[in-house]
Parts: sequence; C-alpha cells; structure tokens
Amino acid sequence: PESSSGYSYGDCQATADWLLSQTAVRPLVGIVCGSGLGGLANALKDQVAFNYKDIPNFPQSTVHGHAGRLVFGTLKGRSCVCMQGRFHLYEGYPIQKITMPMRIFKLLGVETVILTNAAGGLNQDYKVGDIMIIRDHLNMPGFAGNNPLAGPNDERFGVRFPCMSDAYDRELQQLALDVGSELGYSDFLREGVYCVLGGPSFETIAECRMLHKLGADAVGMSTVHEVIVARHCGMRVFALSLITNKAVMDYDSEEKANHEEVLQTGKQRAEQLERLVSTLITRIEHN
Ligand code: 6GU
Repeated sequence: PESSSGYSYGDCQATADWLLSQTAVRPLVGIVCGSGLGGLANALKDQVAFNYKDIPNFPQSTVHGHAGRLVFGTLKGRSCVCMQGRFHLYEGYPIQKITMPMRIFKLLGVETVILTNAAGGLNQDYKVGDIMIIRDHLNMPGFAGNNPLAGPNDERFGVRFPCMSDAYDRELQQLALDVGSELGYSDFLREGVYCVLGGPSFETIAECRMLHKLGADAVGMSTVHEVIVARHCGMRVFALSLITNKAVMDYDSEEKANHEEVLQTGKQRAEQLERLVSTLITRIEHN
C-alpha cells in the first residue's frame, strides 16, 4: 500500500535497485553532508556519482551551498555512499521526502549513518569553529506533529513506536572522542544536545534563550528527521554539528545570524571535520 509520504516500500526498493544496478560499490556507511561540508564527498575514491535529478523517485535539492549529488566510493578503503546536499523542511518539502534517502541507504545495505550539519551555538562555552558530537536532540517540529514517521507504518522498515532514547550510538560517540583526541582536536571537540527548528528564518533572541533553557547546546534546521527515520529502520547513527556562529542571546549584541557566515566557517573547519569522519569510519566495525 502507498504510504502517506508518496513513497511506498516498493518505490524505495525500485530506487535502491536502480542504484545497485549502476554501481558495484556496496556501502556499509552512509554519510550526509551539511551546509558547506560537502568536501567529504569529494574525498571519496573511485567515485560513482549521480545527480539527484537523475535518480528515479529521488527528491531534488534547491539551496545555495547544496550540490545535490549521491556519491558512491571508498574512504580509506571503506565503501561509502554520501549525500552531497540534503533536503530541508524550509525548502517546502514534505517531511517524508526529506528523510526518504535514509530508507534508500537502508535498502542499499548501509548499517551506519553519519550526519553532519552547520549549527548555531547556544551553549555559552562554545566557540565558532567548535565541532559538537550530538548526544541527543530536541525535535521541535515533532512537538507540533511534524514527525517523518507520522502516517501509516510499514513494518518492513520498522516498528510503529520506535525508541529514541538510544538514537545516537554511544560507542561511536566514544570512538569519535578517542579519534578526536588522537588527531589533537580535543580543544574544539564538544558533546551536546542539538535542537532542530523548521527555519528558514533564524531564531529570535527570545527563542534562543528559551532553547538554551530547555537544554539545547546548538540549534539548526536539519539532521533530526533523518536520525529518526534511520533509527526506525535499525541503522546506527552518529552525528556532528559544526558551530558556524553563536546564536544571538542578548539585546545588546551587534551580531546577526547569516548564511554567509555559516558557509565561511564551514570552509575553515571543514578539513578537520572531514579527517575526523574519515578516521572514525576506519574504526567502525560492521557485522
Ligand atoms: Cl543560529 N540557527 C539555525 N536554526 N540554524 C543554523 C544556525 C542558527 N547557524 C547555522 N545553522
């Protein structure tokens, strides 16, 4: 039966089968690159890349800084598939479209998903350029009924009421801390709670203060929906936020959130973020 997303299990299977017929790469790791962090995809060896528009049933990307390619290849010898450019609520997509690639990952054989994003820092200890390992999330659109799993549940993907208290794999968080320490990144490596909002407008000062009080360390417009769908279908999840700017928390501040600053910080810290992810991948054990 057709799910509410417009993507049935069969639709997803057709897309995955088409991709598997086009490449010999059999990825165990799926990566989603955030704003300005698409360099990771370029680092893949022996690339087989598809523009989203050429993939049957696949949604299309529209935002500046998001290339819109699905790249297969190897990172330090490990087979990966990488989304270079993702889909956001603020582009106006139905939430099931945003998360559809996670189900494609699953049907391609992916066991571990690694997501990156650009985020605003709410934690007052955070600096621009910090990399935050996501420990947990606040799903604000979910509070308002906008959850990617709303609608009929197809048990072939997962259960009706999936657990989210173990959404972010603890072992991978520890592994990333260890790898970060070995690489000399400890000074700018953090662990915290990521809060997702719908966007595209940035937060007001009052909203930033509220989110901080609620326990959020960083705020952004992505990742959480994908995490929910990835966990629903049983993939392990690891996620990182690059703190590209500090969220404005007081009325005396001269600062204003803007997309250019987000992309600029991405450029400066992207290389280290990529090294952290690629080294982490070599340490992940798969069944
Ligand atoms: Cl300050 N807010 C949100 N919602 N998303 C962001 C951001 C801020 N900085 C980067 N992405």
